[in-house]
Amino acid sequence: MANTILVGAQWGDEGKGKIIDVLTERADIVVRYAGGNNAGHTVFVGKTRYVLHLVPSGILRKNKLCVIGNGVVIDPISLVLEIAGLRKLGVKVGKNLVVSETAHVVFPYHRELDTHREHHKGKQKIGTTKRGIGPAYGDKAARVGLRMVDLIQGDTFEHKLRQRIRENNEVLKALGAKPLAFAKVLRDYREAGEFLKPFVTNTVVLLHHAMAEGKDLLFEGAQGTFLDIDHGTYPYVTSSNTTAGGACAGSGVPPHRMDRVVGVMKAYTTRVGEGPLPTEDAGISDLLHGMGREFGATTGRPRRCGWFDAVAVRHAVMVNGMDDIAVTNLDGLDTVETIRVGIGYRVGGRRYDHLPAAVEALAQCEPIYAEFPGWRQPTSAARRWKDLPVKARAYLRALQELVGARLSLVSVGPGREQTIAV
Ligand code: GDP
Ligand code: IMO
Ligand code: MG
Repeated sequence: MANTILVGAQWGDEGKGKIIDVLTERADIVVRYAGGNNAGHTVFVGKTRYVLHLVPSGILRKNKLCVIGNGVVIDPISLVLEIAGLRKLGVKVGKNLVVSETAHVVFPYHRELDTHREHHKGKQKIGTTKRGIGPAYGDKAARVGLRMVDLIQGDTFEHKLRQRIRENNEVLKALGAKPLAFAKVLRDYREAGEFLKPFVTNTVVLLHHAMAEGKDLLFEGAQGTFLDIDHGTYPYVTSSNTTAGGACAGSGVPPHRMDRVVGVMKAYTTRVGEGPLPTEDAGISDLLHGMGREFGATTGRPRRCGWFDAVAVRHAVMVNGMDDIAVTNLDGLDTVETIRVGIGYRVGGRRYDHLPAAVEALAQCEPIYAEFPGWRQPTSAARRWKDLPVKARAYLRALQELVGARLSLVSVGPGREQTIAV
């Protein structure tokens, strides 16, 4: 399959987990390279629903190695619980999972700071997952973070943690929050460190050895292009490079070893959390929520829904260098009479064919829509391109043209088998 990077082309929750699961069949190794347990990737195997947060979705296939790369921030307590939860569901987690020794660790003060900063922002809040992601990446950039290699080294860890807790307790107190008890954090993290120690290794060297043996790598993006710290709708973003470039920095695999980029997108748009969403539409939100769909896999929050935004996705195709696109949740539009697609924006009297940088301008964008007739029949039983209604095929072809990348997969339901190769 060659080395493939899979990224979200919208605001996260595009169905990356499902497509990773499909593509893993032809890969040897699946690598997470960014984000943390803010991610929630849903995969159905038969009737069993798995939601992966830190562990790559490849874990659900036999004989695949899963790597949590250096670019990920790891809440070790949460990772231990996730591994235990997977084992309880009968998933083997052992030598098939490795964790980078240089990945940064998320601590309770990160979570506390995340929560309090959000609270203090009031109406300007980002709507984070409150998993401590922003503060953890902040510490990494400020060069005061602790890494997995610190966590598993018993003797020096205590000293380093003591310093970090002392400093962060001062900040927490100033914010009116309860300071953390050092002894408890140390105990909990030592315990998690002991559990995780066998998984921790030099994943950069491991990946290079694997490539020398001709193994195929699949990079599992988390979040989406417009949540990227550089390319997203700043400040309503996450704190990592979620886009394809992040796969190199977050794994140690250099750019010239990457062969293909696949972008995953819904046939419409969703966003969970605050921030502009130009094509947001109450009607389609109500429709999808009424079907019991579009509730967050990590926080359970209802996702905001809207029409497909071709302006945004065209930008995502460019930033990520997408060769192929996978369109998911086509079946979500099965009952819609007239489907709209955003093909431009208008702010005041001015027309934009790209996303304006200022978040205030983006919030004022009035989408310019193209309309497509709905197919108004179920698609979830389709297994081949020609099984899809003619109008659905026309809609998908139009999306392909509008965003400028080749359509290679269409998903018509959450199951593995509900996937059409184009
Ligand atoms: P991810 O974060 O990108 O992996 O996406 P999530 O798992 O957070 O959200 C995607 C949701 O859509 C999950 O509930 C999936 O099971 C579901 N899903 C993915 N593809 C399809 C599809 O084609 N049709 C339907 N009905 N559900 C899908
Ligand atoms: P997956 O991998 C959707 C959003 C949050 C918030 C913003 C910042 O499942 O697609 P953070 O906790 O990262 O500081 O929150 O980013 N967000 C996601 N939205 N899917 C995700 O991951 C997300 N991870 C973060 O809702 O708006
Ligand atoms: Mg998700």
